Amino acid sequence: MPTTLYPAKSMNPELRTTAALGKFHAAAQAQPNIALVKYWGKRDVVLNLPTTGSISITLDSLWTRTEVRFVPGQAHDRVSLNGRSDAAETKRVVACLDLLRQRAAVDWGAEVDSRNNFPTAAGLASSASGFAALVRAGAQALDLGLDETELSMLARRCSGSATRSIFGGYVEWTRGRLADGSDSVALPLLPADAWPLRVAVAVTSIAAKQIGSSEGMRHTAQSSPFQASWVATQPADLTTARNAILARDFDALALVSEHSCLKMHALALAAQPGLLYWNGATVECMHCVRTLRRQGVPVFFTIDAGPQLKAVCAPSAIGQVKAALREIPGVLHVLDSGLGAGACVIAIGALEA
Ligand code: DP6
Repeated sequence: MPTTLYPAKSMNPELRTTAALGKFHAAAQAQPNIALVKYWGKRDVVLNLPTTGSISITLDSLWTRTEVRFVPGQAHDRVSLNGRSDAAETKRVVACLDLLRQRAAVDWGAEVDSRNNFPTAAGLASSASGFAALVRAGAQALDLGLDETELSMLARRCSGSATRSIFGGYVEWTRGRLADGSDSVALPLLPADAWPLRVAVAVTSIAAKQIGSSEGMRHTAQSSPFQASWVATQPADLTTARNAILARDFDALALVSEHSCLKMHALALAAQPGLLYWNGATVECMHCVRTLRRQGVPVFFTIDAGPQLKAVCAPSAIGQVKAALREIPGVLHVLDSGLGAGACVIAIGALEA
């Protein structure tokens, strides 16, 4: 598949109609999101419905770009992720393609080529951007005509956090009450440019994590004694975070975000056996962020199911935050991103092709 179709710019790349792509063939881009109020637990594993709602920010300079081509008459799917084929990932991609095929009432095989510009499976939400891009490109290739809410529901079936990457900026994914999941969707809270915070990602390991999020959540719900309090306290955290975002109240967002992060990790640490996603450098980064904040720097941290620390800060503080994190032994490098747009189609086949 061609890899030169894409514009270098990540935010709102211009849509291209190109003869290089044929019929039933489209490319899309999506960015990872970072949860500030965490999703950790499922109320329905098959429909991938969360036990609680969550709130995130979508990034801009990290991306997944995915091409999907459905081939009438082809029996099998061929999946390439970062130029390689991985059995476990292919299985999840095929399950997602099956949902798209079901919507279009076709049984065609597909060719999928997906690339990230950041390390995969190391706690950087590659499944969020990956499945959001796959659903966006696949729905376009099959001309399903879905709106963003419908796309977020399809993405949710493939990976929970992908629900939120359909939208840009500040996004809430509602828990929903209905058994069929039709009210568990992503909603945009605030556009990225309405409060343009920055994120520094301290990468402390590029190894794939040992226990993925799905398995970690299942294990936690089964064995952590704190599960009930996690569920009971989430609505208050969501309200606090939502209000802080709408009021652009940095200090309030900092407090509730670190609280939700540490609570999620406390929940997982208390499982039997406990899940420890951090390394030594992760902990040093947490101390570093807390020290900066005590000195008056507007920054807070959050950490997902991996050892990378994400420091969210005011734009004026990004240089200082990056420099401080770079000094910490064990920090391999520090990525930097603003907040960005939701998943978008970047190339579609020319009509005559
Ligand atoms: C810690 O979305 O990867 O990043 O729905 O099983 O695919 P599945 O899980 P996934 O979990 C993300 C968990 C988290 C917190 C969050 O993003 O809210």
